[in-house]
Amino acid sequence: MIPLLDLKQQYRSIKPEIDAAIANVLENALFVLGREVAAFEEEFAAYCRAPHAIAVNSGTSALHLALLAAGVGPGDEVITVPFTFIATIASIGYCGARPVLVDIDPATFNIDPSRIEAAITPRTKAILPVHLYGQPADMDPILEIARRHNLVVVEDAAQAHGAEYKGRRTGSLGHLACFSFYPGKNLGAYGEGGAVVTANPEFNRTIRMLRDWGAERKYEHLLKGYNYRLEGMQGAILRVKLRYLERWTEARRAHAAQYRSLLRPPVVTPCEMPYARHVYCVYSVRVPHRDDVQARLAAGGIQTAIHYPVPVHLQPAWTDLGYGSGDFPAAEQAAREVLGLPIFAEMTGAQVHAVAEALQ
Ligand SMILES: Cc1ncc(COP(=O)(O)O)c(C=O)c1O
Repeated sequence: MIPLLDLKQQYRSIKPEIDAAIANVLENALFVLGREVAAFEEEFAAYCRAPHAIAVNSGTSALHLALLAAGVGPGDEVITVPFTFIATIASIGYCGARPVLVDIDPATFNIDPSRIEAAITPRTKAILPVHLYGQPADMDPILEIARRHNLVVVEDAAQAHGAEYKGRRTGSLGHLACFSFYPGKNLGAYGEGGAVVTANPEFNRTIRMLRDWGAERKYEHLLKGYNYRLEGMQGAILRVKLRYLERWTEARRAHAAQYRSLLRPPVVTPCEMPYARHVYCVYSVRVPHRDDVQARLAAGGIQTAIHYPVPVHLQPAWTDLGYGSGDFPAAEQAAREVLGLPIFAEMTGAQVHAVAEALQ
């Protein structure tokens, strides 16, 4: 049996440090925000090479607050992609704004910058590129379009901790960036978690207030806020894991390189762009007859996953956006063909070999 990822094995590899960090939170009873979360915020901002990180209770909350801080509200439009996790789209909806979708570049699975300008209207407020699977979107043309049209760029970096674009880290590329610490992510909490990263002191201040009932001081509510605070326990756990993130990322990249050297057509391996440090949160190949291939791998004890089988514009909950089948051919084709292979730091070369051989 080869799992998609193995969080139990990861825990065992760092158990003494994690157990001590949890015991420390219990002793100090700092259960919500507190010292550990504040220290994690500083360490994560430094990791992203950005001035500010604001920890929140999920990646979805991070997206919601980043968009609110960017001034996105009812009647506004936000440009993003149909080939992403539903949270990207939902967070735009939470602000009362409308997601405007543009197709992906089939080579990278990320937003195709050449399609953005045609989607801009007087109501457009922001562009929300997703660094899908852990490879940054092609940010320079996106930032250039945003500059010309006076738009805010919010990175959905939920899958891209430590990924780089032309040597710059995710979190320091757009005006705001949103990370998820969902357990299966490259940096995962033992529960829910997320963060917004920004260089802008005003955004930093607004988001700090919004995550904690719109208050800077207790019971002085300057903004209509939310209860989006990160738990102390998650902050303490994330501090331990952040110390291992570079080592784990390099292991993922080595597994990806091994897959690439072993797999041949008709399997199509992910394309790592010259500008990118891809962190392989997900290792998606394209294969013909994908569902049959997945079933046969499962029968052989190899777990795989499909991110994502149905693009957003074809989801029943979002038919009101008015899109239909055929509107985004690259996203629809990706949804039919992608297959995520097992990838996690503790995986052995023999396991990578076994997966590649079975798939081929
Ligand atoms: C691309 C993307 N955006 C947003 C999210 C939402 O993050 P969370 O699950 O922490 O709310 C996720 C992860 O689930 C994601 O993969």
